[in-house]
Amino acid sequence: MMQPQRVTCVVGARPNFMKVAPVVEELKARGLDVRLVHTGQHYDERMSAVFFDDLGMPRPDAFLQVGSATHAVQTARVMERFDEDCVAFDPQLVLVAGDVNSTLACAIVASKRGVAVGHIEAGLRSRDWAMPEEINRILTDNCSDLLLTPSRDADANLRAEGVPDWRIHRVGNLMIDSLRKHLARAEALDIPAAMGVAPQGYVVATLHRPSNVDEPAQLEALLAALGEVSERLPVLFPIHPRTRARIADAGLSLAPGVRLIEPLGYLQFLGLMAGCKLMLTDSGGIQEETTALGVPCLTLRDNTERPITVDEGTNTLLGAVAGRVVPAVDEILTTGGKQGRIPDRWDGRAAVRVGDLVCGGFRTLLEG
Ligand code: UD1
Repeated sequence: MMQPQRVTCVVGARPNFMKVAPVVEELKARGLDVRLVHTGQHYDERMSAVFFDDLGMPRPDAFLQVGSATHAVQTARVMERFDEDCVAFDPQLVLVAGDVNSTLACAIVASKRGVAVGHIEAGLRSRDWAMPEEINRILTDNCSDLLLTPSRDADANLRAEGVPDWRIHRVGNLMIDSLRKHLARAEALDIPAAMGVAPQGYVVATLHRPSNVDEPAQLEALLAALGEVSERLPVLFPIHPRTRARIADAGLSLAPGVRLIEPLGYLQFLGLMAGCKLMLTDSGGIQEETTALGVPCLTLRDNTERPITVDEGTNTLLGAVAGRVVPAVDEILTTGGKQGRIPDRWDGRAAVRVGDLVCGGFRTLLEG
């Protein structure tokens, strides 16, 4: 049984911060020697630094500064630099989160060094091999000793792939730990008022998936749909740097009711989501956050790796079809939208379960 004393936690890109923050806090509180490594996949103040303040996360002990590059180069850079960090700190457990390039890169490095790997948000599958994140999820799970799953469907995916039960640990949804901890503070900021919109009187949109923003015709059709939605309610559109660049490249313009805003910090975005009438998104995490908040969510993708948000929560998988947006929005405006329930173990105690598991000792792949 492995009972680690030295644990490295890895963050790299925006969706990692809210999943890792509660684990860092919990493991430190239990007296473990925790090192926080930031790969620097996301590096802008608004994509990264602000999250540390908002989440009350300690400054990273190491910042690997890998920056943007092709997938191969970004992954390779993380591997080289993280390998050096592993040699210097000699962790007994490396915890990675989610499905970004940094996640996979660090999982490979640790497993090749014989260090136990724990994957936060293991077991999710979109079954869409064209998504870089799906490749990252499957390969990361393959080399992880601890598969820390958020929901029952994730356990079932792993079992169907032949993963033995002893590797699967349903700890619950760590991102929802952060949401519950910070929601009151986020709401106290009164972000809708600061943005000049009425509570429940606006729509929030986010788009950044390559499949939606890299093809100019698809991007144009989606922006036109947002324009039509804005004839009903104002649309606030915090814009990912990738999307901003694609809009500029394609020379597209936006309807006057669609307000482009800079990427928001964690608390500001949470406050904005909590007060909106509905979300339109292609993000992964927002599907879960809206389910936890009880806010209707229309997901502009053909598949989701988070089906529990559709089966139990407030999410509707619309498909990446611009023509479906306005009818779906009108239906929500008429009916109030889906009334979901909160999935099991999305209760704010996922980090405690991770702490119990890590400190209680666990079997590793090396032990077999
Ligand atoms: C990455 C993740 C994706 C996640 C998303 C959230 C992978 C494969 N993808 O996609 O799963 O949903 O983050 O944001 O890991 N850029 C900046 N500033 C930054 C970061 C990026 O301007 O701080 C620009 C880069 O120059 C690049 C683009 O944004 O042109 C894309 O960044 P990248 O990290 O490659 O992937 P994302 O599309 O953000």
